[in-house]
Amino acid sequence: MMHVIAILRRCQGMQKMSSEQDNMAIETQLVTAGRHNKFGHGAVNTVVQRASSLVFDSVAQKKVATANRAKGALFYGRRGTETHFALQQAMTELEGGAGCVLYPCGAAAVTNAILSFVSAGEHVLMTGSAYEPTQDFCNVMLAKMKVTTTYYDPLIGEGIAALMQPNTRVVFLESPSSITMEIPDIPAIVRAVRAVNPDVIIMIDNTWAAGILFKALEHDIDISIQAGTKYLIGHSDYMLGTAVANARCLDQLREQSYLMGQMVDADTAYMASRGLRTMGVRLKQHGAASLAVAQWLKGRPEVERVNHPALPECPGHDFFDRDFSGGNGLFSFVLKARLSDAQLADYLDNFKLFSMAYSWGGFESLILANQPEELNAIRPAAPVDFDGTLVRVHIGLEQVDDLIADLAAGFERLQR
Ligand SMILES: Cc1ncc(COP(=O)(O)O)c(C=O)c1O
Repeated sequence: MMHVIAILRRCQGMQKMSSEQDNMAIETQLVTAGRHNKFGHGAVNTVVQRASSLVFDSVAQKKVATANRAKGALFYGRRGTETHFALQQAMTELEGGAGCVLYPCGAAAVTNAILSFVSAGEHVLMTGSAYEPTQDFCNVMLAKMKVTTTYYDPLIGEGIAALMQPNTRVVFLESPSSITMEIPDIPAIVRAVRAVNPDVIIMIDNTWAAGILFKALEHDIDISIQAGTKYLIGHSDYMLGTAVANARCLDQLREQSYLMGQMVDADTAYMASRGLRTMGVRLKQHGAASLAVAQWLKGRPEVERVNHPALPECPGHDFFDRDFSGGNGLFSFVLKARLSDAQLADYLDNFKLFSMAYSWGGFESLILANQPEELNAIRPAAPVDFDGTLVRVHIGLEQVDDLIADLAAGFERLQR
C-alpha cells in the first residue's frame, strides 16, 4: 500500500508546477528545475536509476502504475525511471510546457515529432534553412509516406500564409538558420499560420537557444525541440533529444513517440540534468566570447561579412534583439575569397585550438567551412547571396585572446 501511495504522490507532484518557480530568474531555474520532487533521495543530484524491468510488489501496485504510466509512475524502462522523470520535469519547467518527451538524439526528436502528427496525403511547411538531416528526412522519409514538403525562405515573415495548403499539418521552424544564421520573424510566421488554420501544429528546432534563450511556447509554438547533445550535455560526450510540448500536443507526441520506441538511457538523462546546472554560466561565457570574436572578425580585411545574430548586420538581427534573451557560441563568417581545396585544407588543418567536427555546444572550439554551392544545395527556398567561402565556428570556453590568435594565424596561412 505504501508503494501505491508513493506512486500517486509522485504522479501528483509531476503535474504540479509551482508559480513561485515560474517567477524566478532563468539562472535560478536552471539550478532548481526538476529537483523539488526529491528525485535525488537525499542527494543534490537525481539518482541514476537504470532499469528495463520495474518490479511491482502487488497486483494493486501494478494496476496503479499501469494507469499512471504516462504520468510519472515507474512502469517499464521505455517509459522512463526517476532519472528520466527528473529531466523531463526540469525541461518542462524551463521551457514552460505541459511535458517533455526524451529521444536518443536530436535528429530522433525532430523526426519523431513530425511523424507523430503527419499522415499520408498531408503537407509540411519546412524552413529552407533547416539543419540538413531534417531536410533529408522530409525529402526521403516523408516523401516515402506520401507526405509533401514545401520549403520556405526563413525571412518570409507573414508571407508564409500564401504557402499554406488545405492539407498543411505541420509548420516547422528553426532559428537562427542552420549555418547562415538568419533570424526569422517567428511571431509574424506564427500569426500568419494561425490566421489561416489555427489547428496546424507549429514546431521549432530550438537547439541554438538551448530551449531557454528563445521561449518558443510563449510564442504560441506547440513543440520546442532540442538536440540536447549540444548545450544541455555541454561536454560533447552524450547524445540526447528533447521535445517540450504544450497541453494540446503532449499526449499525441508522447504516445506516438512511445509507439516508435523512443527513449534515452538513464545515464544520459542524468548527465543532461547535471549539465543544466551550469548551462546558464556556460551560455553566458560562450555568448560573450563569440561576440568578442565576431567583432574582431568584422575588422579583418579577409572577411566579407560576419553572421552573428547579435550583430546589427545579421539578417533578422532586430528579431533576435526582440525575441531572444541572449546568444551562444555558434556563428559563421564569409570570406571575401573563395578558397581553393588546397588553401582550405591548409587553413582548416592547422588550427591549434579549433578542431573540425560535426557538432557544437561543448566546451571546446570547433570550425567547419562550406563553399557557396554546397550551401545552395541545402537552400531550396533562397540561394545564398555571396561567392566566398563560409566558415562556421563554435566558440568554446577557452580564453578569447588565445582563440583570436589562432584565427589570426589562420588568416596568415591564407597569405602564403
Ligand atoms: C540545429 C540542430 N538540430 C538537430 C541536430 C541533431 O542533433 P543530434 O546530432 O543529437 O542528432 C543538430 C546536430 O548538429 C543541430 O545542429
